[in-house]
Amino acid sequence: MRNRIKIGIKGVDALLSGGVPEGSQVVIAGNPGSGKTLLAFEYLYRGAENGEVGVFFSFNEDTDILLQSIKESFPELKRIDDFVNEKKIIIFGYEETKTFMQKGSESTNYAFTGMISQLQSRIEDYHARRIVIDSLSYIKLYPNTLFEYRNLSTSLLVILNRQHVTSLITAELESENASKYQPEFSIYDGLIILDTILNKNGNRTPTFEVRKMRGVNHKHIAVPYRITPSGVDIASAGSDQ
Ligand SMILES: Nc1ncnc2c1ncn2[C@@H]1O[C@H](COP(=O)(O)OP(=O)(O)O)[C@@H](O)[C@H]1O
Ligand SMILES: [Mg+2]
Repeated sequence: MRNRIKIGIKGVDALLSGGVPEGSQVVIAGNPGSGKTLLAFEYLYRGAENGEVGVFFSFNEDTDILLQSIKESFPELKRIDDFVNEKKIIIFGYEETKTFMQKGSESTNYAFTGMISQLQSRIEDYHARRIVIDSLSYIKLYPNTLFEYRNLSTSLLVILNRQHVTSLITAELESENASKYQPEFSIYDGLIILDTILNKNGNRTPTFEVRKMRGVNHKHIAVPYRITPSGVDIASAGSDQ
């Protein structure tokens, strides 16, 4: 059995009966504001607490702004600056990732090859074990056709697998209805859905659900979660933290 990587976010590893198999590439999909970026960052933070190096690739925010908003959201995660300074967490913001695409030629397919090799070399440079790609929906804006997008997604997956990293890849849900199937997610090893349920009192409660995790006998329930100053908190039965 493959070694498990603990996501480290309160309640999550219990839902996964111990964590994510090492080398899994997992999509975390949700609507805007559901906390995908924060949750993905906390995954790197929890790894850094154990000495694991993580790289965060943002395709829509500059590094300084991203880091600032994460620190405002998580004021009780006191080691963010230290981890960044010690290069336990390395962030490549939009100011850098947007140049990845331009390193190729006119041909988009060639440009994607350039982008993939840029990602690969940065992962290698830092000997990263945990990767975040934020977000697939922004990468999707580059290809001209669905065919190109599929090639790009496959190449991305091949590179991540070869590097033997464990990744969280964020994605926007394209429908308000989270059960509506987005076939583009099916190539990944795992799929986590952030959604909401309507309460009797008319309010909405955010929910976290592991929809798919290859090799794991995971729970099939949508459990409530909260974003708190000390991280995301998933209220699972039998919390492991
Ligand atoms: N400390 C906090 N407590 C509660 N909610 C927070 C806190 N910090 C941020 N949020 C919520 O997180 C949301 C932003 O999360 P983010 O990860 O950027 O979302 P996404 O990437 O899914 O669009 C905000 O809309 C806000 O509701
Ligand atoms: Mg985001």
